[in-house]
Amino acid sequence: MPHIQVTTRDGEIRELDVAASGFLMEALRDANIDGVEAICGGCCSCATCHVYIDAAPAGTLPPVSSDEEMLLSGLVSTPGRSRLSCQIPVTAELDGLKLTIPPDS
Ligand code: FES
Repeated sequence: MPHIQVTTRDGEIRELDVAASGFLMEALRDANIDGVEAICGGCCSCATCHVYIDAAPAGTLPPVSSDEEMLLSGLVSTPGRSRLSCQIPVTAELDGLKLTIPPDS
């Protein structure tokens, strides 16, 4: 069960143990993390699951797809750090991931 550290919009540090299945957006939504609305349900069409990746175990994040890149370009995003959490599968190897919920944009 991977352990994930989340810095919320309020600056609170949340420590989550999440199931190694599904996608990161689902784990954040299920943990009631504020700012992860995921309006499109993970179809890569809304960008309301935007996160900043602070640290990730090497080789665990999939490459940014062209659809994801297009959505990120419409946000106040941080290149190299911004990702859509619905595009990141949760695997056991994701243990140690640290992320921050961006300010509302
Ligand atoms: S949930 Fe809509 S783009 Fe991720």
